[in-house]
Amino acid sequence: MEEIFKKEKEFYIPFFNRLPVVFERGEGCWLFDCNGKKYLDLVAGIACVSVGYSHPEFIAKVTEQLKKLVHVSNLYYTTPQLDLAEKLKKITGLSKFFFSNSGTEAVEGALKIARKVTGKKKFIALENSFHGRTMGALSVTWKEKFRKPFEPLISPVEFCKFNDIQDFEKKADEETAAVIIEPIQGESGVYEVNKDFIKAIFEKREELGFVVIFDEVQTGFGRTGRWFAKEHFGYEPDIMTMAKAMASGIPMGGIGVKDEIAEKIEFSEHGSTFGGNPLACSASIATIEIIEKENLVENAEKVGEYLKKRLEELEFDPRGKGLMLGFDLDGKYKNKAVEIVKECLKKGLILNYTSENTIRLVPPLILKKEEVDYAYEILKSVFS
Ligand SMILES: Cc1ncc(COP(=O)(O)O)c(C=O)c1O
Repeated sequence: MEEIFKKEKEFYIPFFNRLPVVFERGEGCWLFDCNGKKYLDLVAGIACVSVGYSHPEFIAKVTEQLKKLVHVSNLYYTTPQLDLAEKLKKITGLSKFFFSNSGTEAVEGALKIARKVTGKKKFIALENSFHGRTMGALSVTWKEKFRKPFEPLISPVEFCKFNDIQDFEKKADEETAAVIIEPIQGESGVYEVNKDFIKAIFEKREELGFVVIFDEVQTGFGRTGRWFAKEHFGYEPDIMTMAKAMASGIPMGGIGVKDEIAEKIEFSEHGSTFGGNPLACSASIATIEIIEKENLVENAEKVGEYLKKRLEELEFDPRGKGLMLGFDLDGKYKNKAVEIVKECLKKGLILNYTSENTIRLVPPLILKKEEVDYAYEILKSVFS
């Protein structure tokens, strides 16, 4: 391990403050490090590996595509891309799709489309939002620390207080091109937007003619116990962004739009070399098929409830839906999230912290109750 750490210091840009472990392989919800030690993973590569590590059907389908055709660019037609778009229409309710390689790129595309179709410039995002690290997505991301060094970013952008209808109504105006929200904020520590707030956004949309973008990069593909978190609220966005769990760990993102938006988009207004290549699309199709076949949306809801209950037994107050949960630390553990994550890692349990006081759990959607019990025992020993 020491050698790998040394190599990183010598050759890699240190954007990430990593945990001291070198992972080599995975199976189901379990990861194995370079010494063969096993860990129960409640992070799934930050909400990505939805069908679990080394899923045989996933491997078979992606390998089949790998042998046939990996990439030809968007200059030509390929079947997996259009099969995926057809599948997404069924599970998202949106009409047309374009693919990218990450969440932040999907957000870039969504912001561009919003400006194009409305002819307006201003974006409204929420306080504590996270939409990515490229210049457009960063401009609608809340944290000063992420944005400040890179200003000037795109403007105008206004941040609205979370779930504050009055503040929203003050900020939404005739100049607004789009309101972008995560239905459940992930990076800020798992906070749900409430239904009344969403209702107020859609009412203003009628009056002012902006578009509503739901950023479902983290909440999509079964994570919250629904295919998409929008289903908890009963409102249909004009544009939706997706990524993370979309191809179970193969880099993949996408934008979905309603017909009336698609009609206003013109040739060559957006693009990507790799976006939607046959390999990534086959991984996404395999992911969706496994989620369907193994009822993983229902599993996320059921096992998520169980995980919540077990966390409550440990006297935490978990937030979130399905297998997207966050909880804060208290008492003698206040602001000790980093230490707790490190201690759990030593004991073979992988958690994630979103701040010094908040733990986030976004495990593979195949998580079983027995695995929750395993995690419970480790957590109990750490918080004793
Ligand atoms: C809601 C949301 N949008 C966008 C992104 C950016 O995605 P990526 O890291 O794939 O660029 C993230 C990443 O955490 C996210 O949670």
